[in-house]
Formats: sequence, C-alpha cells, structure tokens
Amino acid sequence: MTQLSTADKSTDTQPHPQQRRQTAGERANIPPRRMDFEFAEQTPRYWYRNSPFLTTFWSTLSSLFPEGETFFVDSVRNFRKDITDPLLKDQISGFIGQEAMHSKEHQAFNDLAEKHGLPANKLDKELGVLLRFARKILPAKHQLAVTVALEHYTAILAEQLLRDPSHQANIQDPEALKLWMWHALEENEHKVVAYDVYRQVGGGYLHRIFTMLVVTLFFFAIVGSGHLRLLAADKKLFDIKGNLKGFWYLWGPKGLFPKLLPQYLDFFRPGFHPNDHDTVQLLDDWRGKMLSPGGLLADQIRNPQRS
Ligand SMILES: [Fe+2]
Ligand SMILES: [Fe+2]
Repeated sequence: MTQLSTADKSTDTQPHPQQRRQTAGERANIPPRRMDFEFAEQTPRYWYRNSPFLTTFWSTLSSLFPEGETFFVDSVRNFRKDITDPLLKDQISGFIGQEAMHSKEHQAFNDLAEKHGLPANKLDKELGVLLRFARKILPAKHQLAVTVALEHYTAILAEQLLRDPSHQANIQDPEALKLWMWHALEENEHKVVAYDVYRQVGGGYLHRIFTMLVVTLFFFAIVGSGHLRLLAADKKLFDIKGNLKGFWYLWGPKGLFPKLLPQYLDFFRPGFHPNDHDTVQLLDDWRGKMLSPGGLLADQIRNPQRS
C-alpha cells in the first residue's frame, strides 16, 4: 500500500470539478484500481471446484503474491530513473500501482485462508526472506529478468482464466471470483511493462531465457512445496483419490497446464514480445463486463473513473 500511495502522489492531480487530469497509469491504459473485497468467513472452505487439492493449489499461489509482487515492483522501480520514453514511464507508474493493489487484496484473501487453518501468511513470510536474500546477492538487472520471467507466468495463467468459462465457473465463491478475475485483467493490461523496461536497459536474449529456466525450477519447487504444506495443514495430504483427481485436472493431457505449454515455450523465441499474445479484444470485452454499471466489479471499485 505504501507503494501505491507513493506512486499516486507522484502521478495524481487534484480533480477539477469539470475535468480531472488523467493519472500516468490511466494515460498508459494501466489504471490502478482501488478495490475493496470482503471475504466473509462463510466463504466455502473449498472454493475451487469443491476440491481441497485445487483450492490449496490456488491458495498457495495467492499466498506468494504479496511478497512476490512487491519484489516485481522493486525490480522495475530500480530502473525507473533510466527510462526516458514517456509512455514507458507512464506504464511503469501504472504497473507499480496495479501490483501494489494486488498485494493488498491477496493479503486479505490470505487472511481468509488462515481462518480456514492454512498457513498462507507463513509461506509469504518465508518467500519474503528468500527474496530479500535475492535482492542482496543478485544484480538489479538479474532481479528484473526474474520479474520478466514471472510476469510471463502470470500473464499466461491470467489469460487462460479470462478465456476459459469452465475455469471461471470452478471458482464457486463470488467474491473470490471477482478477486481472481480483476487480477487476471490487470496482469494482462501491464504484461509488457517489465519486459519493455528490460529491453530498454539493455537486457539480452540469452540472459532472459537462462533466467526463465532457473526461475521455472524455483517456481515449481516453491509452489510445489508450499502446496504440500497447505494440503498437510488441511489434513488432506493422504487423500490419494482426491489429490490424484486434482493433479489430473491440472496436469492431465487435457489439464490446465499442458494447454499453456505453447504459450510458455513462446518465451524462448528470440523475437518474443508479450504483445505477440493478442489480448486486446479479450481485455476490452472484460473491462466492459467487469467495470460497467452493474458489472462484476461495480460494487468493489473505489475509484470508478479509472476503469
Ligand atoms: Fe499482480
Ligand atoms: Fe504483474
């Protein structure tokens, strides 16, 4: 939240009664939206497909967002002073504002997981320790390359959620659905930012793909171990049948992740750019469905003029 306030202070202007000047993020079509989700205690314990395996999987991802996205923000902010392109400067402001809000709202969601007995905050704290160590030992450009790799993950996972109605229907709590859909929309709105900063500060191809390979190993190790811990805390570690079913849903031949393999591998193309995955129409459609009066997020958004 501190980061959001800082970003807004530097970019906002006082609204005029008739005409309010746009913020930097709005100019770049990456408007930070202030949301206020309320996760009630009666939220179903297994809000994804009524599956302990799958719910704890998405809860593991959520638990890593507050510290993870703070790292993304810092790694881009390190290079803000080196960027002269006015559009990219505006995009950086939008990126920082959006990611700061994601951290805040996922923290609220993680607090709900804690109420369900899952140690989500503990996972996040441990990731924080690891990332503080990474900040100390890795040069700034390596940290940025890590963010570029992970932003590719978030962009393709988010695009899949926006495109797949059955995936959306599996999120059986309305407030949780709003959180994940809002996050998915914004991940795609700002998917070029870290990549373009990386290119503008001289980031190269081999460094980018080498980092992606290392990040992939860490990503699966951290998410996999976190998932096992949440399953154990939920006393479902030995629910063999339920776990195999959930695993098959993610990794089976028609599972969510094998379907993403072509998009993941596209990152390894020398000329790859995040905009090669065209989401313009998809985002226009979802902005309409989410942000128009009566839309999915109409009750949550606290600064609707920024939609
Ligand atoms: Fe995010
Ligand atoms: Fe992001």
